[in-house]
Amino acid sequence: MANIGDFSILATDGAARTGVLHTAHGVVQTPIFMPVGTVGSVKAIAPDDLEDIGAEIILGNTYHLYLRPGDDLVARRGGLHEFNAWRKPILTDSGGFQVFSLNELRKIEEEGVTFRSHLDGSKHLFTPEKVVSIQRNLNSDIMMVLDECVPYGADKAYTARSLELTTRWARRCRDAYPQGSAGNLLFAITQGGFFKDLRERSIAQLTGMADFDGFALGGLSVGESKPEMMEMLYHCAPLLPAEKPRYLMGVGTPLDIINGINAGIDMFDCVLPTRNARNGTLYTSVGKVNIKRQEYAEDDGPLDPNCSCYTCRTFSRAYLRHLFQAKEILSFRLNSIHNLTYFLDTVRGARKAIAEGTFASYMKQYEEIYPQEVV
Ligand code: GUN
Ligand code: ZN
Repeated sequence: MANIGDFSILATDGAARTGVLHTAHGVVQTPIFMPVGTVGSVKAIAPDDLEDIGAEIILGNTYHLYLRPGDDLVARRGGLHEFNAWRKPILTDSGGFQVFSLNELRKIEEEGVTFRSHLDGSKHLFTPEKVVSIQRNLNSDIMMVLDECVPYGADKAYTARSLELTTRWARRCRDAYPQGSAGNLLFAITQGGFFKDLRERSIAQLTGMADFDGFALGGLSVGESKPEMMEMLYHCAPLLPAEKPRYLMGVGTPLDIINGINAGIDMFDCVLPTRNARNGTLYTSVGKVNIKRQEYAEDDGPLDPNCSCYTCRTFSRAYLRHLFQAKEILSFRLNSIHNLTYFLDTVRGARKAIAEGTFASYMKQYEEIYPQEVV
């Protein structure tokens, strides 16, 4: 019998791996892409749609759910899974990143980070202990520690001080909820900006505390160039413990995800498929399609003949273009179903390729589909 938090690697191909992570709400096969449900809902998508497209785990945000409707209210409803009717695993981000991206007036101190709500301007303090308590109220399967995601361009002295604070906050998160206390896993987040020695220091400090259930790479995809991101990704991923799940936060495009897998990453999340769905940018087996273009006005073919999602099985490009042009809300749902299917097919295909030892040629296909992104 597997225990909650067990992670078994089933096959490897180069640095790429495929495995299974056990959580309180079932297993997650890795590598995996996690659709983002900031306020507890994956925008435009119901849980039965998520089931249909084969989603295994979704992401929620501590920051948003704490401010509205409030984690106590969610706890009184039996936790987030009961509240939003998604019974499979949920990972929650700690709120650190959202405080930094949505608040100009935040104040960082040893105790925690003070910020003003983007909803009503009210003042709040997130401490490491507080974000663990919120995530436990949500009954998140995978909780993230409070961290500071340093802005792109931060200097070395600032980045060094910040990563030390992130390490002390991680320790406090773990102490507030020792490993194995109940069913909620806790992942640490490594930082260090764009300085390899600082990245190594952050990873050494956090992996030196053996009691985390997984390790994330934070502070990437924050405005740096693609080559800079890839350089840090390929440098850091192999330094994370091989026997624990590795999570690349907030990344990325299909080719970024393929590169992450190639570097040995197991988990990804990004708003790209859902946000782009709502802008009419759709990912297909031949690259990106902008569905609003005139050339699709009378195109009776499916969006992607190689996709088996509900949208592609049922509707023409002409109809999808019409829905988008008419700003019909169904456009959001159908486009989101397709884009999420594409991202989930990408990781499903990767798992199969790793198991069969053909990941290099699988990766090459993605480099050919997205040539402008090759690094
Ligand atoms: N999401 C994307 N990047 C980050 C990060 O560095 N920290 C946190 N907490 N969330 C993220
Ligand atoms: Zn489709």
